[in-house]
Amino acid sequence: MATPYRIAVLAGDGIGPEITAVALEVLRAIAPRFNLEFEFVPALVGGAAIDAVGEPLPAATLKTCRQSDAVLLAAIGGTQWDNLPRHLRPETGLLALRAGLGLFANLRPAKIFPQLIHASSLKPEVIAGVDLMVVRELTGGIYFGQPRGIFTTETGEQRGVNTMAYTAGEIDRIGRVAFEIARKRQGKLCSVDKANVLEVSQLWRDRLSALSIEYPDVALTHLYVDNAAMQLVRAPKQFDTIVTANLFGDILSDIAAMLTGSIGMLPSASLGESGPGLFEPVHGSAPDIAGQDKANPLAMVLSAAMMLRYGLNQPAAAQAIEEAITAVLDRGYRTADLMAEGCTLVGCREMGDLLIKELSP
Ligand code: IPM
Ligand code: MG
Repeated sequence: MATPYRIAVLAGDGIGPEITAVALEVLRAIAPRFNLEFEFVPALVGGAAIDAVGEPLPAATLKTCRQSDAVLLAAIGGTQWDNLPRHLRPETGLLALRAGLGLFANLRPAKIFPQLIHASSLKPEVIAGVDLMVVRELTGGIYFGQPRGIFTTETGEQRGVNTMAYTAGEIDRIGRVAFEIARKRQGKLCSVDKANVLEVSQLWRDRLSALSIEYPDVALTHLYVDNAAMQLVRAPKQFDTIVTANLFGDILSDIAAMLTGSIGMLPSASLGESGPGLFEPVHGSAPDIAGQDKANPLAMVLSAAMMLRYGLNQPAAAQAIEEAITAVLDRGYRTADLMAEGCTLVGCREMGDLLIKELSP
């Protein structure tokens, strides 16, 4: 029998537990077919951890993650924790987890499922065939730069400060990941910055340009972030791989997500130099529909597929999951976020059951 993969499972808040339940069932269902075994180790993060032990990333959770082969995370956050001091907020736990595991490269693929073309708010001809990858720097930039805080000036006025900073080394390492990914895709890399205004972006652009000499098979272009946002909704098919800084990537990946019809369809992978990767949907914890069996579990299930492909090197198992999703969509089943005329509305659990049926021999 295969050695079991040890997977840290961080269900988090809001819809997190219900979509996690579906993803784990799907993993259990495919395991025998690919001779895999999983040991799922639950751990607390975000609001759930704050409520249970008073902090958003308990040391025990980071330890469990470090001792695992991969980390599956659902979603964190909720209005009940929004007024806590910043160091006690759920989001701080997520950022500490990314930093603690050294996960500097965040891969956010946005690929349109043909069955969902009409679920997008954009015209079908604009989005048909969209298949792009946002490579977001995840442990630097304005999310982590110092100084940061709300200070009081000499005149007694409050002043909020964050710092957007990148070292050449930080830019080069995310740049290399992006070039390698672009090389395996269509060979087109668009670096997004704000070099017309920001020095940090000028350095980013200079380093990316210098790196491109090592990757003659990849066509590198540069766009300012405002233009990139516009181009993403105007003509998204021009993009193959996008590489950008932490904050710009946060924003652009939400735009890219909506091209595909619903943010409920987008998975992500966060990788470091070594150690376990973290796999999580791009969407949030959707507290407004939590516990009502209305959530779309597909981004979470696709995150489990990304874990198999990028974290555990089990591409065949990943593909089986992706094909099961396609098959269920082909048969017209939709969660509320994707619902269209002529389709059958299902809840989170039923979507999971349909996937399992599809995956069962
Ligand atoms: C994301 C989220 C997080 C981020 C939040 C929850 C801290 O928006 O993963 O995109 O900004 O990175
Ligand atoms: Mg975001």
